Amino acid sequence: MQKVTCIAPVNIAVIKYWGKSDEDLVLPLNDSLSGTLSTDFMCAKTTISTSPALEVNKFWLNGIEQSFENERLLNCLKEVKRRANQTLPHLNWNISICSENNFPTAAGLASSAAGYACLVSALAALYEIEGDISAIARRGSGSACRSVYGGWVQWCKGASPTGEDSIAKQIAPASHWPQMRVLILVVNDERKKYSSTSGMKRSVETSELLQYRATKIVPQRIEAITKAIINKDFQAFAQITMEDSNQFHAVCLDTFPPCVYMNDTSHAIVDVVHAYNDFKKSNKVAYTFDAGPNACLYLLDSEVEEVLSVIDYVFPPVVNSEGYLKGIPLSKKAITEEL
Ligand code: DP6
Repeated sequence: MQKVTCIAPVNIAVIKYWGKSDEDLVLPLNDSLSGTLSTDFMCAKTTISTSPALEVNKFWLNGIEQSFENERLLNCLKEVKRRANQTLPHLNWNISICSENNFPTAAGLASSAAGYACLVSALAALYEIEGDISAIARRGSGSACRSVYGGWVQWCKGASPTGEDSIAKQIAPASHWPQMRVLILVVNDERKKYSSTSGMKRSVETSELLQYRATKIVPQRIEAITKAIINKDFQAFAQITMEDSNQFHAVCLDTFPPCVYMNDTSHAIVDVVHAYNDFKKSNKVAYTFDAGPNACLYLLDSEVEEVLSVIDYVFPPVVNSEGYLKGIPLSKKAITEEL
């Protein structure tokens, strides 16, 4: 019997991935860039065991058995096995996968990113494959390729029609900007109305704004935010982060029928952030929203206490130690080292 356990963290995009040029290979229309959180708070944990005595493949997510006939899961497994040493004795044994997230699944909190990064890391360890595994994690969920690395990570869309250069790369480790923090404001932890996968497919089919964003806006934003990160220029970093979140949700509204992910509370958070930044006469905090109403706030540690007290005042917290997560630091070392 062989057994491996891995953990992998969530990543929060500041330049969003939205739209595929190839659904099966999970090739994006544009580059994206994110910060990977530390594994202390929001992460996925996967244990895979294999034994010649296992009669069928099994997959559990958060304690509930799932069908193994999941195309994305099978694609990842196939690709890892293809790269494995074909003489490994356990290569053809059945496997049992047990995954869990310590945060709401599919509530727009990047659970599939952490989940597939974790699954692929565990498979890679089980079948002893080496080298970059982000292209494999990408086949599970696009954003998962960025969770394979720690710190600041860019997913380069690549040019090859087969996707081998559609990979993630670390542009700076978390230690480069150790003051950076992320606050997650859980507005609603229910499953989202429509998945990112179906939402972005509909955007590709119907939104003209998406095409403009992918070709004309994102390339220059990637360049500008990379510079802001390298120079630790929070003012510029925050401006671009907020603009990109707003444009991503504008694309969602330009989709027909529209994908409405933000709710009234999300918009109220946007207003509070702008009021705070206006009062401070500079960008001290930046919001970004994925495919759900929950807010991610990027800010420096010097601002955390004050911003939290403003948030607590405007939105008195529900006393819930699980739902209200504070001040998650970016990881101090590359996630690959932690797996
Ligand atoms: C809004 O990676 O979940 O979070 O590739 O279809 O699985 P699939 O989509 P997914 O989309 C994430 C979209 C996003 C933006 C981002 O993380 O870049």
